[in-house]
Amino acid sequence: MNIVILAAGQGKRMHSNLPKVLHPVAGKALAQHVIDTARTLAPEKLIVVYGHGGDVVKATLAAPDLAWAEQAQQLGTGHAVAQALPELGAAAQTLVLYGDVPLTTAATLKRLLQAGREGLAILTVDLADPSGYGRIVRDAAGNVQRIVEQKDASEAEKAIREINTGIMVMPTARLADWLGKLKNDNAQGEYYLTDVVALAVAEGLPVRTAQPEGEWEVLGVNSKVQLAELERQHQRNLADQLLVAGVRLADPARIDIRGELKHGRDVAIDVGCVFEGKVELGDAVEVGPYCVLKNVKIGAGTRIAAYCHFEDAVVGPDGVLGPYARLRPGAELGPEVHIGNFVEVKKSRIGAQSKANHLAYIGDAEIGQRVNVGAGTITCNYDGVNKHLTVIEDDAFIGSDTQLVAPVRVGRGATLGAGTTLTKDAPPDALTVSRAKQLSLSGWQRPVKVKK
Ligand code: UD1
Ligand code: CA
Repeated sequence: MNIVILAAGQGKRMHSNLPKVLHPVAGKALAQHVIDTARTLAPEKLIVVYGHGGDVVKATLAAPDLAWAEQAQQLGTGHAVAQALPELGAAAQTLVLYGDVPLTTAATLKRLLQAGREGLAILTVDLADPSGYGRIVRDAAGNVQRIVEQKDASEAEKAIREINTGIMVMPTARLADWLGKLKNDNAQGEYYLTDVVALAVAEGLPVRTAQPEGEWEVLGVNSKVQLAELERQHQRNLADQLLVAGVRLADPARIDIRGELKHGRDVAIDVGCVFEGKVELGDAVEVGPYCVLKNVKIGAGTRIAAYCHFEDAVVGPDGVLGPYARLRPGAELGPEVHIGNFVEVKKSRIGAQSKANHLAYIGDAEIGQRVNVGAGTITCNYDGVNKHLTVIEDDAFIGSDTQLVAPVRVGRGATLGAGTTLTKDAPPDALTVSRAKQLSLSGWQRPVKVKK
């Protein structure tokens, strides 16, 4: 099939400079959700009709498989689809989606395409409150006759609860003719796509309907209120999928997934966590409350305590991390590594069973196995212009409050005394101290307050 995504609307009620279809749900633009779902149907042509904020929309969504059709003036949904006509492929069916209705599933769209294979099909739902929507008008036998917009509807028609979601599949071969026949002599002075339904009926083509699994599949966004509601709905769906797959969530209403979360068995996630990009949690991983994990892979059995922030990092199995640990891009931790409170690790490899439990900065470092990094240790990796490497070999012990002025190397089994400022390599197996000798002066007088 061909797929046409309508995305030319301005979205006045969003009160934003960002075009409506670029507002995010689960960290991804509304229209991007639609495009991603559309792609899974392998369309012959995938066309986005754009208008408002055209350049930004195009630049944000650009992809080699997308065709673009500009609708300079928004004269109605029928006029919008007409702009895509020159881009349509020969495929028998043309499916119209809305760029601001992000959660329709591929399974629902497949049912709709199936329903429309001999004519035209409309995705409809029955709403308790149908106001604002186009109504599906059926004859006594239940056959669809036409769609009437709210503003053009009689009182009797307004009582109809079956509404047009806007998602519709039509025979490509009839489209140009039908769209050419549309008139704008209606309450809104627009060219309604919905008027093609009556044209199909007049030609004796079967017009069928299909329904989504859930109402949320056809919810659109016109305001920040609706955007927030849709976000919650989507997050709840994602949380339910995790629960069904065996993840333990302290509260399915308090988790946010903005990307892809893969997990093993017996994973537990406490409240308030945000997962962004691609996150992988191994078997039996525990994530404490209020952690933010973005593009990270966590090895099996690792426990992450509260308030951790990890980005572009890899953590080995059986780690003990946090609370308040920060892993920045390029942090790679081996098995059984401990990273404690207020420890920041950037672009560094830390070997098995090494520990940095309190208040440290480890940047541009290669740390071996079983190394103990004392509280307050800092790798001075930046000279103001360039970054330099710190190497700490296996079994070294770094005393508290040490500065390692890179480039510098600490040999295997070396000990650095507390307070060392290391500017030259420390040899293996020796104690290296750089602080001044401790003195005690007896009879020393504290300064006294000078009277003015
Ligand atoms: C449309 C349907 C209505 C349906 C409702 C579902 C028509 C005439 N009416 O009404 O039956 O119940 O959607 O939400 O089709 N757009 C363009 N260019 C335009 C006009 C709209 O790209 O010139 C896009 C909008 O950005 C939006 C979509 O088409 O994504 C729907 O437009 P909107 O104005 O919201 O349609 P409604 O009047 O709500
Ligand atoms: Ca609408």
